[in-house]
Amino acid sequence: MSVETAQSKARAMLVAGLDTSVREDLELIDRFDRYGHDLFEALFEVYDLSAIGSQLMTILIEAHRARPAELHQRDRQRILEPDWFQKPSTIGYVCYADLFAKNMSGIGKQVAYLEQLGVTYLHLMPVLKPRPGANDGGYAVMDYRALRDDLGSMDDLAALATKLHTSGISLTLDLVLNHVAREHEWAERARSGEKKYRDYFFVYPDRQVPDQFEQTLPEVFPDFAPGNFTWDDELSGWVWTTFNDYQWDVNWANPNVFCEYADIIANLANHGVDCLRLDAIAFIWKRLGTTCQGEAEVHAITQALRQFTRILAPSVIFKAEAIVGPAQVGAYFGEGKRAGKVSDVAYHNSLMVQIWAAIAAKDAQLLQHSLSRFTALPNTTAWGVYLRCHDDIGWAIDDADAHAVGLNGHMHRMFLADYFTGLFPGSDARGVDFQLDPASGERRTSGTSAALSGIQAALASKNAAHVNTAIARYLCAYAMVFGFGGIPLLYMGDEIGLLNDSTYLKDPTKADDSRWANRPPMKWAAAKRAMEPLEAGASLAVSTAHRIRAGITRLIETRVSLPALHAGVATRVWAGHGQGVVVFDRPHPAGHMVQIYNVADQSRWVSTDELGGLTGWVRDHVSGHEFDLGEGLPVAPYECRWLTPA
Ligand code: GLC
Repeated sequence: MSVETAQSKARAMLVAGLDTSVREDLELIDRFDRYGHDLFEALFEVYDLSAIGSQLMTILIEAHRARPAELHQRDRQRILEPDWFQKPSTIGYVCYADLFAKNMSGIGKQVAYLEQLGVTYLHLMPVLKPRPGANDGGYAVMDYRALRDDLGSMDDLAALATKLHTSGISLTLDLVLNHVAREHEWAERARSGEKKYRDYFFVYPDRQVPDQFEQTLPEVFPDFAPGNFTWDDELSGWVWTTFNDYQWDVNWANPNVFCEYADIIANLANHGVDCLRLDAIAFIWKRLGTTCQGEAEVHAITQALRQFTRILAPSVIFKAEAIVGPAQVGAYFGEGKRAGKVSDVAYHNSLMVQIWAAIAAKDAQLLQHSLSRFTALPNTTAWGVYLRCHDDIGWAIDDADAHAVGLNGHMHRMFLADYFTGLFPGSDARGVDFQLDPASGERRTSGTSAALSGIQAALASKNAAHVNTAIARYLCAYAMVFGFGGIPLLYMGDEIGLLNDSTYLKDPTKADDSRWANRPPMKWAAAKRAMEPLEAGASLAVSTAHRIRAGITRLIETRVSLPALHAGVATRVWAGHGQGVVVFDRPHPAGHMVQIYNVADQSRWVSTDELGGLTGWVRDHVSGHEFDLGEGLPVAPYECRWLTPA
């Protein structure tokens, strides 16, 4: 069936199923007329349209009818403010619901805390019902229509969303769409022999096909989940499991799978979710002879899901979790005919890695070189910018980038893993190894921002000068996150510098996964104390949390006041003449802004020819001072300056 025929059949179904005298129904048809073509064109790339069109329209009509009036109103507001997530006022906060405040009602009680911090975007890490026991931090979902028992009900989720919305905070949830838990109903039914559900997965009777795929597939968890297939007695077959053996990859080539997820998205959107984080999106399409990441169909499917969502719930956006290289990440925002039609936000993994790498090397050349390879994004999208998340850091230094600045990729990755686990002489980082690759010796690193930046070691040494340096380094790194342009994502507890949590080692379902080191529970007493005036004689730990909170608050308040930080404009990055100086240049029509960061532990001089044409009187928004640039300016170790013409 052609795109045009499928589209006009679908439209006829919509008109027949809706009441054009009702405002919401008319609005839905308008949106179908606007985005329906992008929907069917993308579906056409992957599916037989006769198998999918009417099923999808039935889902759309039912979900539209179920959408609460207040969310229709939110849709209307966001149609008028499509750049809401690009604005400098957007401040993200990311947490596990239980580790932050126990459950939905507990989070409701902490909304005032988030508001006070300036948060306008809250990502609650997996809250949907996971399998019992080991569940990859909730990323093994067994029911997309229920919350984890101890977190509350779907009604509690909707009530929290309403409360957040009233406080100007948007809600993000994970949509784990590459795999389901082995205990999910689809998997249960596949095991009990229902062909329909067996076709939701990749099941092979013997090793022949799996072995062919394995030749080009990388391993995500070589340590605790080697291989990409798992033998299942009940299935009597090998099932595709990219991640853990209990996470079964679903087969997106099956149109029923597409429709299931469209329905799941609709249900989450109707509970007030504003943004869906597309977990491990790169992996959803498999092709023999490839790494099975980022295939063209991934982007066609995302475009189709995005347009379906846009028609149903235009206030909802997508965030891609695609931890891929500079050359691949642009496709998740949409390139060429897909520009702006895929995800609205994607994580800037390279920036995160390069910030840490620059700090370790005290040198910004590699950062500058690799970031200069990014092309401008569609100006309706934004980076998700972060220093840490709940996962490990893979030292994604590209070999060619390393070469270009006189380094060896492998040796530099080894250096970073050594540096951030404190093995490199002089390093004060306290990360933990994750997933050693026995072939190369390379490994990834877990740890909180405070552990990686030296705060943990400095506090342990009780050396006030060391603490000063570590705090400056920490805030310098976070200033890059808040200054880059895009949604800054503050990981829970980083506003007070939480240290590594080693209690996971005592829990057998977590002990082999060091990512739990960087998922400490919130320390509420410390968080509250950090907001009060500092008492004389406070301990080093208390004063450190206090200074971090004050520093982060200052960065947030400053960012919010600067129109030049709107994500619609791309940041240009260059290294200053002096080793260790990073310059972010934001040529925004609302005003030129130049940011300087010294990632080295020695002071530097930055001359005016490094400042993108900025001369004369400037205002440094970080210190609040105005001065004449003259020939240039000094920058102290780990100092940052956000300059605009005064
Ligand atoms: C994403 C999550 C990670 C999880 C994986 C599998 O990368 O961030 O925590 O292990 O997907 O769902």
